[in-house]
Amino acid sequence: MPLSARARQLAIPIAAFAVGLGMLGGVAVLTLTPSARQSTTAEIGGPFQLVTHDGRPVTERDFKGAPHLVFFGFTHCPDVCPTKLFEISEVLRATGDRGKALRALFITVDPERDTPEVLKSYLASFDERIVGLTGSPEAVQATTRAYRAFARKVPTKDGDYTMEHTSLVYLMDRTGRFVGSFNLGRPPAEAAQDLLRRL
Ligand code: NI
Repeated sequence: MPLSARARQLAIPIAAFAVGLGMLGGVAVLTLTPSARQSTTAEIGGPFQLVTHDGRPVTERDFKGAPHLVFFGFTHCPDVCPTKLFEISEVLRATGDRGKALRALFITVDPERDTPEVLKSYLASFDERIVGLTGSPEAVQATTRAYRAFARKVPTKDGDYTMEHTSLVYLMDRTGRFVGSFNLGRPPAEAAQDLLRRL
């Protein structure tokens, strides 16, 4: 068989393989949606040991008892993090007094820069039920892994760096189990009801 014909024959399975890989990527994202939660709840989230923006050591057990949101980000984030934190603040505000036990955990993926003090001053612009969490790089990495989140340092032209990270907002129930990704693409009052009915 001429080489070119052979290459054509090979091209199809290779293309199919590439598409398959793409689909696998899609599946990885889909596993974090509510529809797939039955099979994945036990595997997302888990024990962590971090420090709050007030410098208090905490574990995942401190947040059991009320539903909570978990979001990974960093204070130097130019757009995604401030937008999400603003949206989460709007939802929490919409829960009013009934939602005072609710929490949203903002876990930094940039512990080198995000000390408790930096987190505290950054979070002063948002709802006070948002708790900033940081820790040693190892502790943060272990937490990121437990939530199957993604974070990667990317150097910038000016010799500085930024972080690529998962922008998913995790909804955990009051027992600390993963429920699904929390939908912020709806009116705050509606998202607030979703949290309140889980109290
Ligand atoms: Ni961000």
